[in-house]
Amino acid sequence: GRPGTAARPLAGRRVLVTSGPTHEPIDPVRYLANRSSGRQGHAIAAAAAEAGATVTLVSGPVAIPDPAGVRVVRVETAREMLVAVEAALPVDIAVFAAAVADWRPEVEAGSKKIKKDGTGPAPLPLVENPDILSTVSHLEAGRPPLVVGFAAETDTVLDHARAKIARKGCDLIVANDVSAAGGVMGGTDNTVHLIHRDGAMETWPRLGKDEVARRLVVHLAGMLTR
Ligand code: CTP
Ligand code: CA
Repeated sequence: GRPGTAARPLAGRRVLVTSGPTHEPIDPVRYLANRSSGRQGHAIAAAAAEAGATVTLVSGPVAIPDPAGVRVVRVETAREMLVAVEAALPVDIAVFAAAVADWRPEVEAGSKKIKKDGTGPAPLPLVENPDILSTVSHLEAGRPPLVVGFAAETDTVLDHARAKIARKGCDLIVANDVSAAGGVMGGTDNTVHLIHRDGAMETWPRLGKDEVARRLVVHLAGMLTR
């Protein structure tokens, strides 16, 4: 091909990546969250930018630096993440690497801290958050040509991932076993399985999250042109 196309396989493409956890406020000082560091999603955004894409990274609260060459939109809650994602469309590729909180407190956090009143803990009713991946996968107008989900599982990883790809309507699921020794969540390495909508599957060796990101970007560029 033309000079540089091998090194920049996403030149001229628009890519959206979600990353990190979400925080769901209970009151002004407390929230529900999870152990996601944002490392894998941020690495994918960086790798896509290096591959020549125009990248928007919608990130929940993380303690790692912004990747170079990427537009970063910071959000706190799942509902804010959905709004930011919808505003970032249209894109060629959407990668949903965020560990979105499945539930949020039913009662909207007010400005007053909840106090102990001596009668024991108050119940904390939860409601389900919007599913951002599923919402974008099922868009009738403006669905990105390539929608990629992640699946963090602790058991029967592949069975769960196959069910998830059908339910969510995405084109590819990157599945990982977060119970793996060494700790994937918050760690620097990842062992992933790629499951395609037609059932095709491949497993990559244990790799650094940066290397997973670089390989994934090459893989996605190939899917887009196929
Ligand atoms: N996801 C999302 N919005 C949500 C929940 C999940 O966009 N409210 C996305 C994640 O970013 C990921 C994929 O859906 O790409 C799968 O997330 P996961 O938590 O593994 O799946 P769930 O459908 O939430 O099922 P469960 O947590 O019960 O396994
Ligand atoms: Ca979930």
